[in-house]
Amino acid sequence: MPPVHMHAFLYILLISSATLASRSNSATFSISANASNTLIPKWEGFGASLSSWAVAAGGSQVQSKLADLFYSTKTVTVMVKGKERRLPGLGLNIVRYNIGGTGKERDYPGRVENYKEGPSKFGVDWWKLVQGYWIRGPSDADSNWDWARDARQRSMLKAIMKKKVDRVEFYSNAPMWWMTKQNSSLGGTLSNDAIPQFAKYVTNVVRQAIFTWRIPVTSVSILNEPSGGLSKYKQIDHEGINVSVKDQVALLDELRSQLDNGFMGSVDIAGPDERNISLATKTLSKMLPLVDKYNVHGYTSSTIASQNAAREAFKSAVGSKKLWVSEYEDSSKDGMALVTALAHDILHLRPSAWLYGQLASTTSSQGLLRFNKPSEKTRRIKITKIHTRYFLLAQFTRFIRPGDEILATSSANAIVAYNPTTKRYKFVVVNYLCIPTVSVTIEGLKKGVLVERVRVTCTQADGKAMFKSFSAVVLAGAVVFRMEKHSVCSFTL
Ligand SMILES: *[C@@H]1O[C@H](CO)[C@@H](O)[C@H](O)[C@H]1NC(C)=O
Ligand SMILES: *[C@@H]1O[C@H](CO)[C@@H](O)[C@H](O)[C@H]1NC(C)=O
Ligand SMILES: *[C@@H]1O[C@H](CO)[C@@H](O)[C@H](O)[C@H]1NC(C)=O
Ligand SMILES: *[C@@H]1O[C@H](CO)[C@@H](O)[C@H](O)[C@H]1NC(C)=O
Repeated sequence: MPPVHMHAFLYILLISSATLASRSNSATFSISANASNTLIPKWEGFGASLSSWAVAAGGSQVQSKLADLFYSTKTVTVMVKGKERRLPGLGLNIVRYNIGGTGKERDYPGRVENYKEGPSKFGVDWWKLVQGYWIRGPSDADSNWDWARDARQRSMLKAIMKKKVDRVEFYSNAPMWWMTKQNSSLGGTLSNDAIPQFAKYVTNVVRQAIFTWRIPVTSVSILNEPSGGLSKYKQIDHEGINVSVKDQVALLDELRSQLDNGFMGSVDIAGPDERNISLATKTLSKMLPLVDKYNVHGYTSSTIASQNAAREAFKSAVGSKKLWVSEYEDSSKDGMALVTALAHDILHLRPSAWLYGQLASTTSSQGLLRFNKPSEKTRRIKITKIHTRYFLLAQFTRFIRPGDEILATSSANAIVAYNPTTKRYKFVVVNYLCIPTVSVTIEGLKKGVLVERVRVTCTQADGKAMFKSFSAVVLAGAVVFRMEKHSVCSFTL
C-alpha cells in the first residue's frame, strides 16, 4: 500500500475533441482510480509458453535475438525481410517449458508410434512434435530414458534463463505416446495403467531440470485443456490428451506425492489449464483443493467483454489461491481482441500473471511475429513480419511490471498500476470504441507526482503508430493528449 501522502485520487477524463462534439457517436466518459483500492495486490508478471516456436528457433541463428526481444526491455534490432527494425523488448519474466510426448522411430521395440517425422500424414510440422524423454517403457530403468532429446526447445529455454526470469513452469500437453490407447501424443486417451506412469514421467523431467540442468522450476502443470473433448486423436495439429475428471483428480494426487517423495515439495502444482472459464468452472470444486495455483486459458467463443460476470464469479470461487491466465492467443488481425481480453482479464478476473501462448509462428494468424517454415536440416529462421499484436502487448508488458499493485478503476478503459518501490504510477489507457479521436485528461494528481511533461507511448491497431512516443504537457495537474480510435497509450508518472 502506498504511504498516506500518496493516496492521490487519480482522475482520468476522456473527452471527445471539440471538433467532433457534434457527432452522435462522440462520448464523454471518465476513469478514476483510488490508490487505496487495490485490485491485484502484487503483479507477478507476463510470460509465454515455449513449445513449438522454441523447437523451431532454439539453437538457430536468431535464438539470442528472440530471447532479447521477448525477455528483455532493451531496444532490439531485428532483420525483418532484409530490413533493420528497432523493436521494444517485451520484458516478459515468466516462461513455460513444454514437456513433450513424441518419440523417434524404433525407440520402443515391438511398438509403433502413430506419427511420422517431418510433416506427417496428420499434417503436423516437425517443430510441433515435441520430443519426450522416457523413450520406452514400461520400466523406468535409466536405459529407457534419453536426456538428450528436445535439445532445441531446451536451448531456447537456456537462452531465456540468462534474462531476468522470475517463474518457470513446466507443463505437459500429453504423456509419452506409448502411455495412450492410440499410441500417439496427438490426442486421445490414457491407457488404463498410465496414471502413475504419466505422473512419474513429469516428476522425473522436473527433477532432471532442477538437479541436472539447474533450471529453478517453480511450478508444474500436468493437464492441458483436459475436459473440453478437444484432443480428438488425429484431428489435432499439436499434442493433447482427453482426461476424465476422475483421472484428473488421480493424476494431480499422484503428481503431488511423487514430487514430495522426490524432494520437490516446494514445486507448486498448477492446473488444470482448462480452455476457458466456463469449462474450468465445471470442475473447479474438485480441482481447487489439488492445486497450489489455478491456471485457466483465455479462449472464449463469446464476445470477450460479455464474459466479465463469469470472470468475477470465477475469481471469487478461486478465492485467495493464486490465479494465472496461463495461455492466450487469437487470430484477430488488428490485435484489438488481444487488448480487450487482456484488459478485461486484469480488471475482472484479476490474475497475478498473464501468459501468451506461441510467441512466433509460421502463419499470420498465430503469434506476435511470423517466420518462414524452417527446414529441419538447415533451420535458418527468417523473420518475415512483426504483427501489430506485438506492439499492443508491449503497451502492457513494458509498463505493468512485477511487484506492481494494480488499482481499482471505475471504467474498463484504463489499467492503473502503482509500484511501491519506485513510487510511480503507470497508466495503460485503451480506446476500444469507435470514437474517432479523444483527448485524455488526468486531473487531481496531488503530492508526489510533480512532473511538467510526460512521455506517452501509443500503438494504433491499424498499424499507423507502433509503440510511438511523444511528449505531452501536464497542465494544471492534467495530462492532455489526443488518442486515436482502437489504440492503446501508456505512460508513467
Ligand atoms: C478510496 O478508497 C478508500 C478505501 O476504500 C476510501 O476510504 C476512500 O474514501 C476512497 N477515496 C475516494 C476519493 O474515493
Ligand atoms: C497400440 O499399440 C498396441 C501394442 O502394440 C497395439 O496392441 C494396439 O493395437 C495399438 N493401437 C493403435 C490404435 O494403434
Ligand atoms: C474426449 O472427450 C470428449 C468429451 O468428454 C469425448 O466426447 C470424446 O469421445 C473423447 N475422445 C476420446 C478419444 O476419448
Ligand atoms: C469454452 O470452450 C469450449 C470448448 O472449446 C466451447 O465449447 C465453449 O463454447 C467455450 N465457452 C465460452 C463461454 O466461450
